[in-house]
Amino acid sequence: MTNSSLTQRIEELKREKGAVILAHYYTSPEVQAVADFLGDSLALSVKARDIDAPIILFAGVNFMAETAKVLSPDKKVLLPVPEAGCSLAESCKAEDFAAFKAQYPNHKVVSYVNTSVGVKALTDICCTSTNALQVVESIPREQPIIFAPDRNLGSYIQKLTGRDNMVLWDGACTVHEEFSLEKILELKQEHPEAKIVVHPECRAYIVQVADYVGSTAGILEYCGKSEANEFIVVTEAGILVEMQKRYPEKSFIPAPPMDSTCGCNECRYMKMVTLENILACLEAESPEVVLDEEVRRAAERSIVNMVAIK
Ligand code: 13P
Ligand code: SF4
Repeated sequence: MTNSSLTQRIEELKREKGAVILAHYYTSPEVQAVADFLGDSLALSVKARDIDAPIILFAGVNFMAETAKVLSPDKKVLLPVPEAGCSLAESCKAEDFAAFKAQYPNHKVVSYVNTSVGVKALTDICCTSTNALQVVESIPREQPIIFAPDRNLGSYIQKLTGRDNMVLWDGACTVHEEFSLEKILELKQEHPEAKIVVHPECRAYIVQVADYVGSTAGILEYCGKSEANEFIVVTEAGILVEMQKRYPEKSFIPAPPMDSTCGCNECRYMKMVTLENILACLEAESPEVVLDEEVRRAAERSIVNMVAIK
């Protein structure tokens, strides 16, 4: 089937079943095109909670679909590729995290949403890259914190807040850790007027050269507001689709990874979602996200605490 006939069939099935597709900015262009809502992980969590539809199909990775199910237990949440994981979530298994947490009984736990539902159940308050600063600042300064699982986001927040009472889990995103400072600086020499925009999952030495640091939604907003016309984009390359759509008069240069033959400025998990598996999933209404109710309830508290702060 061609992309256009797959798209047409997906649109028909959405109408027939009252299904809504939520997609992250890192999915491929044809997947973004069938989405009813495109967003960053925070916006998609909020949308999943508020949306009035019996079926949500989540075009993204499994922690995002799980978050949607936690917030919307009565809706059917479909995930075309359950194996679409996340290197951050996978670096932090619930049983290992429980043992880590037990070493710090007086600490509050702040977890990035890029975690399994089991880790969220052990968390006091979740955060995303959009609201991590507000979440940490909502906790009294003298209260020690465990921040998991992204050590880069954690140390960036630690630097912004000057808090020395944060213990970091040692996880990282394999996409954002791969950017090359040398190549970014070469690009900057070729495009001296370009602003460097960086996701906080990148290493500290990359964050240091940024004109702007923020989540995918934050970066998009900054590029729109900035007077600059050129941007060196240091995050997953899928976001360029939305950037070029919103700001066709500006130019966006994807930052290359250290090894430019590896394609590793693309998240292989996000790219597992295709029009073919979306169609198959909508037709069969499967695979569906199913969660243990006790774990779901425990996880819900941490996400509701986060959404209340936004
Ligand atoms: P955002 O929260 O910026 O959407 O990022 C999610 C993510 O997976 C980053 O790698
Ligand atoms: Fe996870 Fe990194 Fe992919 Fe985001 S880009 S989903 S953090 S592996």
